[in-house]
Amino acid sequence: MRIYVTRRIPEGALKLLADHDVEIYQGEIPIPRRELLEKVADASALISLLSDPIDAELMDAAPHLKVIANYAVGYDNVDIDAATKRGIVVTNTPDVLTDATAELAWALLFAAARRIGEAERFTRAGRFTGWGPQLMLGQGIRGKTLGVVGAGRIGTRFALGSRGFEMKVFYYDQERNETLEQGLGAKKVDISYLMYEADFVSIHLPLTQETKHLIDAHQLARMKPTAVLVNTARGPIVDEAALVAALRAGKLAAAGLDVYEREPEISKELIGIQNVVIAPHIGSATHQARGAMAELCAYAVLKVFAGEMTPNIVNREVWSKRR
Ligand code: GLV
Ligand code: GLV
Repeated sequence: MRIYVTRRIPEGALKLLADHDVEIYQGEIPIPRRELLEKVADASALISLLSDPIDAELMDAAPHLKVIANYAVGYDNVDIDAATKRGIVVTNTPDVLTDATAELAWALLFAAARRIGEAERFTRAGRFTGWGPQLMLGQGIRGKTLGVVGAGRIGTRFALGSRGFEMKVFYYDQERNETLEQGLGAKKVDISYLMYEADFVSIHLPLTQETKHLIDAHQLARMKPTAVLVNTARGPIVDEAALVAALRAGKLAAAGLDVYEREPEISKELIGIQNVVIAPHIGSATHQARGAMAELCAYAVLKVFAGEMTPNIVNREVWSKRR
């Protein structure tokens, strides 16, 4: 069976696919659309990145496609309905990147709160002339209020990380989260209340029609001027132009961002603001997580080829339809 992979992924996983005909795009930037449309023509499986839009047109160009294994936990880049209609299984890579992403959210939270990005630029520029009572003052963390927007796998792991800092935890989610309520005494609240009360807000939602621009100018206006916003989920959940305006107006103290509204483009205004820490979408970028993500993709492809159910299927309906 022919498998097309849109970028080089960790080697171990590719060994699992050795019995098949695997072709890998060798470029260091996303595969051009036209090339991808050609490459999938005879593919039975596609291993795609979150930066590849996988839509109905692409699926129609791939008449033999049985499975799309998306190398990410988020799958907003894949038109799930279109895949389901065509009987194509879509899989993602949950669990194996939960720690990595929750840890990056903490890294950005600390970096934004303590102005690490600014401090680094300052020091490297040779501007450190001696210890200063007022130099680079930031926000303390212990005992503050944490607002967790989205209490799924990553949001839960992130929130549990607050234990050592004795924080009060609020979370926003459709479902109640017993782990957080029992483990941390966390309280489920609505988004407006969370934005108003939290000293640190961290976003851990998938991108959907409902979550797009959930954090808009109105929500940003509710934040404390000392508060910090962290986003390691998906850029479009935050209205980036509104965030720029809010940071400039001092409506919040700082932000730590790993994701952007129009990736890989980042608004020039955002780059010009000192009190944002910006990372290049590296939430899952640990050796451990990326290796395990690649293996999950390979196993998913092999399972589907063998006519077996894969646990990390996104569109379960497709399976019942096939039987
Ligand atoms: C990364 O953003 C992912 O969804 O895995
Ligand atoms: C700082 O370095 C201190 O000793 O207070």
